[in-house]
Amino acid sequence: MKRPILFATMLAAAALLTLSAARAGEAIPVPAAETPGQGVCRLDGPITYTLRAPRGAEGAMSELGAWLETQGWRPAAKGHALFEARLVDDARRFPAEEAYRLTIAPKRITAEARTTAGLFYAVQTFLQLSDDGTAPQIACRTIDDAPRFPYRGFMIDVSRHFRSVEFVKRQIDAMARFKLNRLHMHLTDGAGWRIEILRYPRLTEFAAWRPYEDWESWWKADRRYCEADDPEARGGFYTQQEIREIVEYARQRHIVVIPEIEMPGHSDEVTAAYPELGCSGEAYKDYDLCPGNEQTFEFLEGVLTEVMELFPSEYIHVGGDEAGKSAWKSCPKCRARMQAEGLRDVDELQSYLIHRIERFLNAHGRRLLGWDEILDGGLAPDATVMSWHGTEGGMKAIRAGHQAIFTPGEFCYLDYTQDAPFTQPASIGGYTPLKKVYSFEPLAPGMSPEEQQRLLGVQANLWAEWIPTDDHYEYMMWPRLLALAEVAWSQPARKDYDDFRERALEASEWLRDKGYHPFDLRTEYGDRPESLTPVHHLAEGCPVSYATPWHSSYPAAGATTLTDGLLGSWTYADRRWQGFLNSDMEVTVDLGQKTEIHYVGTTFMQSRGPYVWVPERVEFYVSDDGEHFTPLTTVHNDIPTECPDLLFKTYAFAGKASARYIRCVARSNGIEGGWLFLDEIVVH
Ligand code: ACM
Ligand code: ZN
Repeated sequence: MKRPILFATMLAAAALLTLSAARAGEAIPVPAAETPGQGVCRLDGPITYTLRAPRGAEGAMSELGAWLETQGWRPAAKGHALFEARLVDDARRFPAEEAYRLTIAPKRITAEARTTAGLFYAVQTFLQLSDDGTAPQIACRTIDDAPRFPYRGFMIDVSRHFRSVEFVKRQIDAMARFKLNRLHMHLTDGAGWRIEILRYPRLTEFAAWRPYEDWESWWKADRRYCEADDPEARGGFYTQQEIREIVEYARQRHIVVIPEIEMPGHSDEVTAAYPELGCSGEAYKDYDLCPGNEQTFEFLEGVLTEVMELFPSEYIHVGGDEAGKSAWKSCPKCRARMQAEGLRDVDELQSYLIHRIERFLNAHGRRLLGWDEILDGGLAPDATVMSWHGTEGGMKAIRAGHQAIFTPGEFCYLDYTQDAPFTQPASIGGYTPLKKVYSFEPLAPGMSPEEQQRLLGVQANLWAEWIPTDDHYEYMMWPRLLALAEVAWSQPARKDYDDFRERALEASEWLRDKGYHPFDLRTEYGDRPESLTPVHHLAEGCPVSYATPWHSSYPAAGATTLTDGLLGSWTYADRRWQGFLNSDMEVTVDLGQKTEIHYVGTTFMQSRGPYVWVPERVEFYVSDDGEHFTPLTTVHNDIPTECPDLLFKTYAFAGKASARYIRCVARSNGIEGGWLFLDEIVVH
């Protein structure tokens, strides 16, 4: 008996080896086209390389050579290079700037491109295929590759928790490997100012420091800043020299760093350091800057002048999101400004500020980028919109002739939980697993070719409120940023999630080897099990009438939601959970005819952070005529509101009854701002 078992084990092991050998070293993002060749190319020892460029362009190549040597590659003695990188001045062969061809032949690997970025990406592909040149051999083939989008970004939030220069450089290294080419740095926010501005030293002597361990303890306490030399001070900032170092490091890896300076909202730290820039004139009062005050513009232009000296990027991101604007309504300076400029409301006042800042940036040869809210009150003439409330804002800008970058929260916010919440560290909530990020399709049907051109690309954003440590930040970033990289670079026809997941497992191995801390995809629990298969039941497809309206932000599938057989996932934002705000929920299901029933059940979600509560009680009624209802049962809640975890509670009647109509009334616990979320009314 022993031998067959051993034999079977060996077979299984061999099958595994074959599988992993077949998969080993395939690239992320998947290239546009690949043609198999004959034979293999053997690799032994350090890769030798040679660089060829048209006369006059040799200088540009020396930087590539320097980078190759950081990877242990050696310049070849004449004629003996294994790897030849050739810059070719041919825009017909390579219409996209970053396009390349990588030819792997038995004795020679050739990279061709018309820019050093293209050559750099050919090298990245080769490194992935060859396990950084350590594989004994790789299969011959020709890869023709070009990006789908020119803008392939990642946003790092260094305000909520500061990250070191070393940390940022490490992420730049990994981004470059996966062909991401924009690093958007969220440098300023209420939680801390992170860039040295010589004209305004209080920003970094004071507004860059908090006397608390982490963002959460600061947020739950008094939200004060402290002096840099306070023994309790936590935080930090980049000196101008450090900023130059990051920008240059990124540039050598074909990544443009785009700074974000938030205005006019998310500016509590500015008004704490310079209270005269808020409407009240007092520290710790104003979340927004005062656009009625000329000093605000003097400040912003002073800051931006230094920022433009440090960052050569075409775009300067000015935030623009989530300004409260309420103080502006009663501020004499703001009111005077509105009157003088003929502005009808505070949205137009924000738009005035953004227009003015755009003129300033344009006058210095730069362009303005901002979140969706820069559309409010009228978009500035040359502005580019970074769309985060879905993609509607970006689409609106594109239709109006502007450019846009899509970063919809649902797919691109990496601060959302990436696996079953009970398996994960505390987070802001949500549920955005690898597969969800990967499923993002930026182009909408019906977009004209010109409109498609105006969609510059996509970006993942990683807000850091709930992410105090570097390791945790990497855990949230990887491997999901790999999925975004493939969305940004690869053609949809080349995408396949199962195949990508295998490659992501391998890339995660590489990341771990290099000391990164990716989420371990091998242990992924996955979606809420109930959501994976439809439930079939007596009320399926039956009409539901609503005595209380669902909230317009969470309609799910509208009136069919509660009888569509589809149960919700880990997040109420998945279009399966239907939401009710500050109200009870009362609905009636029409079974079509008098029906014998044994069970009526409905599940509610509780998530304390966003004020989602299970109901105080659920009352079930039945009726034959839809007018006269008799009570079936009432189920009371037994879960305290203090319960910190995401949880689900099913309220059910089990027994015997006969009726055509079933009414469910869920009574809210009455907490102001509270939500009810349910996914289905199941009847058996
Ligand atoms: C944002 O998430 N407030 C851009
Ligand atoms: Zn004001």
